[in-house]
Amino acid sequence: MRMRKKKHGAERIAACSELFLTERITPSENPPELEIGCGKGAFILECAKRFPERRFIAMERISDVILIAAEKLKAEQIQNVRLINGDAARLPEYFDPRSIGRIYLNFSDPWPKKGYSKRRLTHAGFLALYKQILLPGGEIILKTDNEGLFDFSLEQFSEAGFELSGLTRDLHHSELAADNIMTEYERNFSEKGFPIHRVIARI
Ligand SMILES: C[S@@+](CC[C@H](N)C(=O)[O-])C[C@H]1O[C@@H](n2cnc3c(N)ncnc32)[C@H](O)[C@@H]1O
Repeated sequence: MRMRKKKHGAERIAACSELFLTERITPSENPPELEIGCGKGAFILECAKRFPERRFIAMERISDVILIAAEKLKAEQIQNVRLINGDAARLPEYFDPRSIGRIYLNFSDPWPKKGYSKRRLTHAGFLALYKQILLPGGEIILKTDNEGLFDFSLEQFSEAGFELSGLTRDLHHSELAADNIMTEYERNFSEKGFPIHRVIARI
């Protein structure tokens, strides 16, 4: 996600500091759900409003992008989301083993060029980290417009021992559409007529 550098970014993040995760996540009776690469936060904001009894964590590595998410959450006085400005490669620094119930990967960067596959958030290297922090029976929900990333992810999930369900290559024209929460990229791609792919991978 490319963005012009935000003015006073550090001060604006500091003004939302209560929304940022300060404690390591440990196993609990109400395990949080984690979105990795949350962008400007439309998805997690809607999840938080629709399910106030659930806990959510949204991670994004670009500070000027997570800043927008933080300001939206603050403006709506959302209490059940915490943010991490960090990279998925460092997940074990924030989460104990078996402390997360679900991971959302929404429109992750596809990294289509040869030689860059290790950067894809569904590469085996990342799946090994997700396996550590997910509870047994925990799941990853992947949505993307990108067929190449989707096919690659299905392979990686299967090779890593995840069980697949709820697979569709046209989410918005399936029976699952009614409960779907749209992301910013999803709105954009579907308005342009691209079908949205989605799958659940359970460990
Ligand atoms: C294509 S955008 C999608 C944003 C949002 N999920 C949506 O669907 O509208 C992908 C986002 O993932 C973030 N991202 C990519 N790799 C990441 C990583 N390793 N750790 C954390 N965030 C990452 C990018 O900075 C970018 O904001």
